[in-house]
Amino acid sequence: MIKRTKVVEVLRRTDFGSIVNVRGWVRTHRSSKAVDFIALNDGSTIKNVQVVVNPANFDESLLKQLTTGSCISVVGELVESQGQGQTSEIQCQSIELYGTCGSDYPMQKKGQSFEYMRQYAHLRLRTNTFGAVMRIRHNMAIAIHQYFHDHGFFYFHTPIITASDCEGAGEMFQVTTQNLYDLKKGEDGKISYADDFFGKMTSLTVSGQLEGELGATSLGQIYTFGPTFRAENSNTPRHLAEFWMVEPEVAFIDLPELMDLEEDFIKYCVRWALDNCKDDLEFLNKMIDKTLIDRLQGVVKESFVRLPYTEGIKILEEAVAKGHQFEFPIEWGMDLASEHERFLVEQHFKRPVIMTDYPKDIKAFYMKMNDDGKTVQGTDVLFPQIGEIIGGSVREENYDKLMGEIERRDIPMKDMWWYLDTRRYGTCPHGGFGLGFERLILFVTGMQNIRDVIPFPRTPKSADF
Ligand code: 4AD
Ligand code: MG
Repeated sequence: MIKRTKVVEVLRRTDFGSIVNVRGWVRTHRSSKAVDFIALNDGSTIKNVQVVVNPANFDESLLKQLTTGSCISVVGELVESQGQGQTSEIQCQSIELYGTCGSDYPMQKKGQSFEYMRQYAHLRLRTNTFGAVMRIRHNMAIAIHQYFHDHGFFYFHTPIITASDCEGAGEMFQVTTQNLYDLKKGEDGKISYADDFFGKMTSLTVSGQLEGELGATSLGQIYTFGPTFRAENSNTPRHLAEFWMVEPEVAFIDLPELMDLEEDFIKYCVRWALDNCKDDLEFLNKMIDKTLIDRLQGVVKESFVRLPYTEGIKILEEAVAKGHQFEFPIEWGMDLASEHERFLVEQHFKRPVIMTDYPKDIKAFYMKMNDDGKTVQGTDVLFPQIGEIIGGSVREENYDKLMGEIERRDIPMKDMWWYLDTRRYGTCPHGGFGLGFERLILFVTGMQNIRDVIPFPRTPKSADF
């Protein structure tokens, strides 16, 4: 038997006359009296290989079964293509049918909506768009590891099951082995966790940062890259209940250096996509968003605006004075809504913005306080179309100040002693950030809904597949 060649390789080969074997799924099958054309795709590339079949040499009943979605193995001669758009094609000698695909195949028609395809998340992967998105997603993961490895960061694994709420937002999924039909309660009526698997209340992590800080204050610079879980009931095109986050954490870094790292890192990832995902990006640029490649090239070239929150508020107030209407009123101390972020990025500056020095009450407890006592050294990177793509900060390294903030916010201390030890034993200035992996994929692919850039999305009331 001839060894299988992937479509991506076959299309590069020019040793015409060789016999090759390709295997894949039929995208289209056009037949006429004299010749049949089968476009075959095996997922290795957005491109199909054209298989040219002389119907006189094959059983009519076999050819009839080669409908869209069916799976075949083809042996034939690699020849120079007569047609446009490809250099080589396969002159078919034999066909083995692995699997037929009935006319009820849900991915049959072209131009189905993404909403429709979400109902078939297990099959939508076989379409051109989702193939392109998933190959780009893979490439972005490789770029991330490459970037940090090249810059001397260590890949550090933080736990998925945790007893602490990093962001303090109380949006956690509980983890338990207790029988929920027969919950044990103490005399005070509260659930008793003593007999639960971990002997305490535990949840799925919302962020690996707290443990990441332990890594950074020993290894110098680390990054995490893993799944995170948020039980926030946000039904938006930017939120998932299960998403992947990349979190570098660096000892001895200050705010300007942290912003440099954010900008350099994200540009590296976008450049990687431009360099390594050309075919898929060209497809998405044609089919999804005609400005995609321009936008990616723009981000790589432009320097990001660095904007303190207080100045951002001024710009928004001036816009209102000039007649711009926002749904939510502008006031110092408010958390910016997506409309405000997008106004700054898309209309005012027309490039990415790194906002800094937020009011302390709209940010997490661990952010380093500025001398004004009102603002903290937090940074959000705001992107066109996306809004917040990165959230990070310099951390409060002073034990007393951090404790003061923990007490002021009534954060339960019992399970945080190990985190506070970083400030007790050889504390050091440090900081880091979290990049929402799917938000990066949204930006790089031009897709509009975060549910369409992860294979099997988890959102409120939806955990199929
Ligand atoms: O801004 P966030 O909440 O920051 C943290 O969790 C910090 N502990 C990170 C750190 O400093 N190490 O989340 C970071 C990023 C956001 O900017 C956003 O891109 C993404 O994670 N994100 C989500 N992505 C998809 N669905 C959600 N529900 C998300 N929540 C946050
Ligand atoms: Mg944030």
